[in-house]
Amino acid sequence: MKREIGMDAQELLYENWPGQFDSFSHLEFACAIPQVLFLISTVKQNGKPNLCFHSWSSFGGDAGGYFAVMQNISHLSHTYRNIVREGEFCINFVSADYYANCIATIVNNTVPEDEFEAGGFTLEKAQTVKAPRVAESFMTLECRLACNVDLSKQGLNSMIIGRVLNVAVEESYIEGVDQRYGRQGFMYNIHEPADYATGQLQDTHVASLDVLGSYAQFKNKPFGHKNQF
Ligand SMILES: Cc1cc2nc3c(=O)[nH]c(=O)nc-3n(C[C@H](O)[C@H](O)[C@H](O)COP(=O)(O)O)c2cc1C
Repeated sequence: MKREIGMDAQELLYENWPGQFDSFSHLEFACAIPQVLFLISTVKQNGKPNLCFHSWSSFGGDAGGYFAVMQNISHLSHTYRNIVREGEFCINFVSADYYANCIATIVNNTVPEDEFEAGGFTLEKAQTVKAPRVAESFMTLECRLACNVDLSKQGLNSMIIGRVLNVAVEESYIEGVDQRYGRQGFMYNIHEPADYATGQLQDTHVASLDVLGSYAQFKNKPFGHKNQF
């Protein structure tokens, strides 16, 4: 039995704050698909470093390049304006140990503030862009702006695509997969998942990956067999 959730299903859900379903599609909360979390670093107009905690994204490419696709960057954010003005940025992955530090960059978000200092992060020079890297990041993608599209045509958000020019990876994270895909690796956002029994949106949750096994282990198991690992 499947439940069908259409564009009018927002009537079945309660916003946690007025206007929430204008800023976000209600399907964001109906799906609550986990999204990897990272910090976007840019340079403000006054030269100070800016950080933005960000979730909606995907990554991919081919022989012509590797691209970071960030589906929703608010037009109201400093980051959006910095990227449009400077044409470049860095994507810095940090582990969930830094969650509170990331939130501090949102709370201390005015133009005169140095958001690295506010979040307790250390500046590191990038190789290919002026935007600084977060030294505490286990992986940083240095990006040049490739595309800026307002997908919903509401004037609220843009999909920003960055062409990756250089990647910096902490050496201890290159060996094996445990570091990157465990508690000390990529952190994920589970954004206020909807409970359709009550219509309430639950708290946002933070997650990390739990690797179940390798492709080789998985591919020879019988179809549909439970507890394969
Ligand atoms: C967990 C989490 C995820 C977020 N993801 C995004 C996002 O994907 N896009 C966005 O525009 N804002 C996102 N935000 C909000 C920004 O972090 C926030 O508006 C920030 O202050 C913008 O910084 P800036 O004005 O310095 O660019 C997120 C906030 C949190 C707490």
